Amino acid sequence: MAISFDRHRRLRTSAGMRDLVRENHVRLEDLIYPLFVVEGTNVKEEIPSMPGVYHFSLDRLREELDEIASLGIKSLMMFGVPEHKDACGSEAYNDNAITQQAIRQIKEAYPDMVVIADTCLCQYTDHGHCGVLHEGEIDNDESLKLLVATAVSQAKAGADIIAPSNMMDGFVAAIREGLDEAGFVHVPIMSYSVKYASSFYGPFRDAAHSTPKSGDRKTYQMDPANAREGLREAASDVAEGADFLMVKPGLAFMDMVLRLRESFDLPLVVYNVSAEYSMVKAASANGWINEQQIVMETLLGFKRAGADLIITYHAKDVAKWLRGE
Ligand code: PBG
Repeated sequence: MAISFDRHRRLRTSAGMRDLVRENHVRLEDLIYPLFVVEGTNVKEEIPSMPGVYHFSLDRLREELDEIASLGIKSLMMFGVPEHKDACGSEAYNDNAITQQAIRQIKEAYPDMVVIADTCLCQYTDHGHCGVLHEGEIDNDESLKLLVATAVSQAKAGADIIAPSNMMDGFVAAIREGLDEAGFVHVPIMSYSVKYASSFYGPFRDAAHSTPKSGDRKTYQMDPANAREGLREAASDVAEGADFLMVKPGLAFMDMVLRLRESFDLPLVVYNVSAEYSMVKAASANGWINEQQIVMETLLGFKRAGADLIITYHAKDVAKWLRGE
């Protein structure tokens, strides 16, 4: 008598069969590539903790943009790194600061490139926090005013999407109102909704020179232990008018991608953050892993968990691999 069981392997018998039944795919259109722009001239400097990622000055930006565009990447996340920092992050909302100049330059060179502006104060404040301080504490509501000014200034420069990453309460509502009043009703908000106080941002903070001088970000970024709180954060953002939701970091927080996918219908973004990138680069430089396979499996994992879009420093490499290079 034969025992009875299912023949799952029938659908895995050949590459063609596996192609037919594949449920998820990574497409170049799903990827957003972060770009770091600094002041000065003739700068193209590799960020030591992020091999393959560079700081560019404005006069060297065009060569990078040409490469990005020729690879077929259609969307960028802009991080400007200013030289002048002060207590209230004034370069964040100065129309002629590095971020605004870079956005204008990208939109002039490549009008169809979707330029997303990260809206935060930490690169711009001398204390390195994402909001302004009042007697050593983050002043949430004062910070909102400056974040609104930053978002409006970025939209004026031509940013197609405003992506607030500051984790102040009410930032989506405040920025939506500010953008609408300034005439930018059509500019969407990609909210860093569920953003954890994570050690996975270490290499980014080297790149953006945004490590807090004292304390940490735990009074505004979320505790990695919490999941239900993330649903409350996302629900607030939806109610306040967010157009995209985000989970950040990615790998250790895949459950949150799934939870948000199941609870909300907005486009969902996952940020495959700096240390996730650097760990892969370090291990592959040592010959310990197959970089391409590891990266593609990771990105597919984000898609399977329910992400629509992935912000990733691997985007240029992925573009080459998808072309078969
Ligand atoms: C700004 C910001 C950070 C990142 C994106 N926007 C740093 C932070 O919150 O400390 C991190 C991105 C990465 O690690 O790749 N607030």
